[in-house]
Amino acid sequence: MISSPDFLALQKLLQERCGMQLTSDKLYLVASRLGPVALKLGLKSVIDLMTELRTRPNESMITAVVEAMVTHESLFFRDAKPFELLSRNVLPQLVRARAAAKKVRIWSAACSSGQEPYSIAMQIREDFAHLAGWRWEIVGTDISEPILARARTAEFSAFEVGRGLSPERLARHFTQFPGQGYRVAEPLRAMTSFRRHNLLEPAAHLGQFDIVFCRNVLIYFDAPTKARALDLISRQLAPDGVLVLGSADSIIGVTQRFVGVPEERGLFRLAPAMGLARTA
Ligand SMILES: C[S@@+](CC[C@H](N)C(=O)[O-])C[C@H]1O[C@@H](n2cnc3c(N)ncnc32)[C@H](O)[C@@H]1O
Repeated sequence: MISSPDFLALQKLLQERCGMQLTSDKLYLVASRLGPVALKLGLKSVIDLMTELRTRPNESMITAVVEAMVTHESLFFRDAKPFELLSRNVLPQLVRARAAAKKVRIWSAACSSGQEPYSIAMQIREDFAHLAGWRWEIVGTDISEPILARARTAEFSAFEVGRGLSPERLARHFTQFPGQGYRVAEPLRAMTSFRRHNLLEPAAHLGQFDIVFCRNVLIYFDAPTKARALDLISRQLAPDGVLVLGSADSIIGVTQRFVGVPEERGLFRLAPAMGLARTA
């Protein structure tokens, strides 16, 4: 049985390192997710790993534990609605606003294995392939290096492409490797890149973005941690940029930095004072 001091130490570690709130009803996750880590580190059990983590932690052990504890669930065109809004409203407006620069940068923050950034790339190819000379840059970031390595391969199993992709999209945007799955086509891969980034740390090195997708990760944070992550994101958003949150993400009472776009659920813009402060 995991001791109370060990559980508290893990709770503190996860909160500090990645913002994850590990409540005691999630004890089952500790056993199932840390079992393979204990085995890999040559420890007899999760209990031994927890004790090591509290009494003799080292960076590689901490990284392995954080990576094992976060949830990577993702799928193509998740929730559909944000992609409809992207296609109907956000991208057409941006194409008009960036007509001179012909460059749009999009950040998929907490992108997991890449389904979100590749879905954004597909939407852009479908809607704007006719625009000549435009640069579309989609940057996917995540705290977990192993999941980013998967995203960079751009390879997905039959099960994964079956979640969210129509047969038409699959045929249009993927190459099939018989018996081995599917690979995202080169034009989409050329638009996307992947970098490790923790949402609790400043993101100035990533540059400024016109659109930020940050979906299904804030749900794991407490209110002050959400506020911190959103504050850091707001610093990277263009004054006329758009933030896209997940359907379960609520920011009411959490931050003053963003305001919801009326009638467009899930879309946010910088609060007027923020936009002015950033352009001044
Ligand atoms: C449930 S997935 C969401 C993937 C995608 N955004 C979607 O909606 O399908 C959550 C991702 O957040 C990442 N994550 C968790 N804490 C993070 C943090 N502090 N900074 C960056 N990424 C984090 C996890 O590694 C995981 O890949």
